[in-house]
Amino acid sequence: MSRRFWYATILFTIAFAIALASCKKAGVTKAEAVMNPTQGNTAIGTVTFTMEEGGMRVVAHFEGVPNGDHGFHIHETGDCSAPDASSAGGHFNPTSMPHAGPDAAQRHVGDLGNISADSTGMAHKEFVDSQLTFEGANSILGKGLILHANPDDLTSQPTGNAGGRISCGVIEAAKE
Ligand code: CU
Ligand code: ZN
Repeated sequence: MSRRFWYATILFTIAFAIALASCKKAGVTKAEAVMNPTQGNTAIGTVTFTMEEGGMRVVAHFEGVPNGDHGFHIHETGDCSAPDASSAGGHFNPTSMPHAGPDAAQRHVGDLGNISADSTGMAHKEFVDSQLTFEGANSILGKGLILHANPDDLTSQPTGNAGGRISCGVIEAAKE
């Protein structure tokens, strides 16, 4: 092997190490919640959160969901251990705002509106949210994610009157 080859290899290794280190410094850019049904329910799903320039892209896929609209929120505690997921606590609200819809200027950070399921029980939703982040007091990492039995009316306090919890997950940093 030529000396030039080894120099090139060493330089490449150093550049790669620096790139890797700077990646780590940038922090979490993607997270995921695996959603499991609460007792007596069948709603399963996966929700991914990806930080983009314009905000947080949220992609939700569910199956086994009763036909219609269902409130969808980030809750303050990443704990789905209770059979009814009451262990996940109330809506994630680090800014002490009233409950509202996702497009309201004043809302719980966790207020993500509704997800609609079709007659086969499938529910998909994709949107970009301006308030969700992976850093600081508003970080959604380690929080709970809940799909409710009923629609969120986007106005009733403090929960939107969305009823019981049919599916629960914990938002965790995704492995790159
Ligand atoms: Cu909720
Ligand atoms: Zn709320």
